[in-house]
Amino acid sequence: MNKSFKLAPSILSADFANLGAELHKIEVAGADLVHVDVMDGSFVPNISIGPLVVKACKRSTVLPLDVHLMIVEPEKYIAGFAEAGANFITIHAEATLHLHRTLQLIKDSGVGVGLAVNPLTPLNVILEALPYLDTVLIMSVNPGFGGQKFIKPSLGRIETVANWIADLDLACEIEVDGGVKVNNIKEIVSAGANILVAGSAVFNDNGVENNIKDLRAAVA
Ligand code: DX5
Ligand code: ZN
Repeated sequence: MNKSFKLAPSILSADFANLGAELHKIEVAGADLVHVDVMDGSFVPNISIGPLVVKACKRSTVLPLDVHLMIVEPEKYIAGFAEAGANFITIHAEATLHLHRTLQLIKDSGVGVGLAVNPLTPLNVILEALPYLDTVLIMSVNPGFGGQKFIKPSLGRIETVANWIADLDLACEIEVDGGVKVNNIKEIVSAGANILVAGSAVFNDNGVENNIKDLRAAVA
């Protein structure tokens, strides 16, 4: 089994009526993290879940919860998600005015600190923020929905951030979110990503276990 990268299935594509069973399936199949997409209908044109569901996930799995906040003013909700059981909280650079303070708030809440950028957001903000981060999340689709197509120039953005992290000798991880499939996962990992989010490529009729095996095999 190739473990050179971590696989973070996104429950956005899971069967919410059977969430506990879906979490059990990815756990047994060898997922590394559970990616939890939080949407507010304002930062993105979709509404998903809040701290209550994060709390329910926490009770249903031993896997770390990787909470991706696609919400405006995330600073208002960080404590709530941390208390609900998030292990990592990622906010969007586009969604908060006082980024330094918000990142500090995440750190002070005792969870891993992540910063996400949309596909055309200039990467300078990542370079400036790197010393404060455990994870950089490169969005490779416009956030809001599962099942979209990978935006190809994201590969160059991953490489740029990977080079910065290497040059600065930091331990920061690079997460990629959106359109990750069997046919592109290898080049995404080669570009320097080491946490791969996959929603529709994991939760589909082919079966979670087969899909996770196929994604790992595609990189090996
Ligand atoms: C999109 C979400 C993603 C989404 C990925 O806004 O942040 O995590 O679930 O779904 P796929 O893997 O289907 O592109
Ligand atoms: Zn996400």
